[in-house]
Amino acid sequence: MTAEDELLAEVLERYGEAPNPRLKEVMTAAIRHVHAFAREVNLQRDEWFEGIKWLTATGQMCSDTRQEFILLSDTIGLSTLIEMLSYSPTQGTTENTVLGPFYAAGSPEREFGESMLQDEDPGDRVVVRGTVTAPDGTPLAGVVLDCWQSNTDGYYQVQELDGQSLYNLRGIYRSDDEGRYEIRTVRPGKYPIPHDGPVGQLLKANNRGWMRPGHLHTWVKHPGYKELITHIFDRKSDHLYDDAVFGVRESLIVDFTPDENGELSATFDFVLDPLAS
Ligand code: BEZ
Ligand code: FE
Repeated sequence: MTAEDELLAEVLERYGEAPNPRLKEVMTAAIRHVHAFAREVNLQRDEWFEGIKWLTATGQMCSDTRQEFILLSDTIGLSTLIEMLSYSPTQGTTENTVLGPFYAAGSPEREFGESMLQDEDPGDRVVVRGTVTAPDGTPLAGVVLDCWQSNTDGYYQVQELDGQSLYNLRGIYRSDDEGRYEIRTVRPGKYPIPHDGPVGQLLKANNRGWMRPGHLHTWVKHPGYKELITHIFDRKSDHLYDDAVFGVRESLIVDFTPDENGELSATFDFVLDPLAS
């Protein structure tokens, strides 16, 4: 046993007394991996101190409206991994993706087909429609689709950066008796994730981008089914293949094409995953 192995064994032994078995499992695994990481890269004192300064700045950047640690988790793919581990949809059900920081509860109820665009916007008007069903195809009526998206300039209303009205591009839709839903909106703009803080510095230092492709967020809720948090992506958008937060799934990309009324429309069918009985 090397001195490094002995050190690790002693640390693990002292953390082995945690009364909560899950805490013990998570902490001891984290310690093993952090020690292995430091040994793999032969981490030096001055380098770790730079890391501590960066982590400190990340904490200091956090406020009621800015969560820099979530951005860190997003940009290293950890948020997407946790979503994969947490949701684990069965085959044939709609894939989930990250929630992101721009959800706000309390959006207004919208009629079937109503537009959630309330402000001026130069972008294309679009329609997203489809069905919500169980895996066996049974239509689900009264399903809640809580939706939010950015405008053509790439800003969400909750960012309060460009004077949007309170409920612009936010709305709660419901499926009808045949499980159909219909949302009118504007083509969602690509946008930069916040990159004026320590996470932005890290992205720049690693020659990485901070753009996300245009998407419509939906949080789908129905009794007896797992809550589905996902996005619908526009195939025409830039950054589908270099999304800053690794959130794109091929099955979530749609094409907007003119329908029989000449409206640019896309079809997206949601298949919800039943809760285990
Ligand atoms: C979003 O899609 O709103 C988002 C997700 C992760 C980081 C920043 C924004
Ligand atoms: Fe988003």
